[in-house]
Amino acid sequence: MDDGSDQPPDRRTDPGTDRETDPGTGLPAAGPAPATAPLSVLSRRALLGSAGAGLVAGAAAGVAGGAVLSRSAPHPGAAPPRSGGPASPGAGRVPFHGPRQAGILDPQQARVHLAAFDLAAGVSRDGLRELLKRWSRTAARLAAGEPAEAAENQIALDAGPCSLTVTFGFGATLFDRAGLTDRRPPGLEPLPDFPEDALDRARSDGDLLVQICADDALVAFHALRVLQRQVVGTAAARWQMSGFSRTPGATERPMTGRNLMGQIDGTNNPKPGEPSFESRVFCGSGQPDWLAGGSYLVFRRIRMLLDNWENLPVDRQERVIGRRKSDGAPLSGGSETTAVDLGAQGPDGALTIPADAHIRVAAPQSNGGAAMLRRGFSYHDGLLADGSQDAGLLFLAFQADPRHGFVPVQRKLSRGDSLSRFLRHEASGLYAVPPGAPEGGYVGQTLLEG
Ligand code: HEM
Repeated sequence: MDDGSDQPPDRRTDPGTDRETDPGTGLPAAGPAPATAPLSVLSRRALLGSAGAGLVAGAAAGVAGGAVLSRSAPHPGAAPPRSGGPASPGAGRVPFHGPRQAGILDPQQARVHLAAFDLAAGVSRDGLRELLKRWSRTAARLAAGEPAEAAENQIALDAGPCSLTVTFGFGATLFDRAGLTDRRPPGLEPLPDFPEDALDRARSDGDLLVQICADDALVAFHALRVLQRQVVGTAAARWQMSGFSRTPGATERPMTGRNLMGQIDGTNNPKPGEPSFESRVFCGSGQPDWLAGGSYLVFRRIRMLLDNWENLPVDRQERVIGRRKSDGAPLSGGSETTAVDLGAQGPDGALTIPADAHIRVAAPQSNGGAAMLRRGFSYHDGLLADGSQDAGLLFLAFQADPRHGFVPVQRKLSRGDSLSRFLRHEASGLYAVPPGAPEGGYVGQTLLEG
């Protein structure tokens, strides 16, 4: 077991800590690195300092880039504020501490790792508490661009925090294993089997889920590896998956991202500020007190049958979704952000958005108001034995209660969605996502000490 003794090397000592903090950004104010310091000894904090200077200049010029992201940042479908700016993407910093866990409301990063773990036999509630404390400390340090206290491997030595977020979730099985059966929340009842599911149980579920997102592949892998090494003796890796999404700044202007089918994906997500947003995404009444302000995360690994899809003419692809491929506008008219008119009819009286179009079948109006915040990432794992691409969507959706969110919607989609002909659900997970930790606290504290 890692006892925390492998301290970071001295050369990670932060030359930027004696700098003043910029009052506007909270970042270390700009200033030259010590003249004698070779590049290799500049810490990630020092890089952050210089990138922060670029941010201040950029902000003055009306460009939002490299900002310290707040937890009230726009929904994933909205324009990410840091896109297109001149500041280094390495400077983006999302605080770990706060009422919500990071990685739910923050603009989507370029990379994701999902890692599920099962507690080792005999690990008690105390062992779980120590692990969550260790993980929370580490996540907070890495999100600030600092090295880990234990299991540091220097993979991200030269990089800024790159908007790293780490989000922790608890699977249903955790509660029995850790002697917490009476605290299991009601929304963690197992997801039903849906028609056409082809789930690999070895790549599903898990006692603990860690979602790691960052705008840089090395920074994301660093966090994965460090957190993974910190579980030794307490838990064992169950499965891991990796995904990606568009790199911030890749498009001329901030835009909603596309999935591997080429569709603009994320437009009609619930948006912060809408009256129902909180009650759709975050837990309130009807859930245990320890989960107040938390959420539930549904994960599905959904392989896309890309050969079949790409052989379909674009106008038919658009009828499968109910939106134009080029700009994401609903087939009922307007632009991407125009409200969908599910009643619209063509001159022949036929529905403009077909009866089995994905956006009709999935819409809250078709499911008694059921809604969720989708924050999925694409994945690509090479070729399958038949030569087809092993590629698709790591579907990730946060919601106040899956029994009134994912479950009814997926039940309907699995029966009546024409998109499902091009998809295979291959893995699945459901996790309670506790609220965020205050400074000095840890994620899961409300469960273990409440
Ligand atoms: C690979 C699988 C999937 C693909 C490629 C896909 C793609 C899309 C696209 C392109 C849109 C329209 C743009 C938008 O509003 O985001 C959309 C909307 C939506 N999707 Fe999916 N989706 C997939 C799976 C799912 C699943 C599994 C669910 C939930 C069980 C779901 C729920 C929704 C919802 C709720 C909307 C918004 C509908 C509305 O109110 O207009 N999707 N999806």
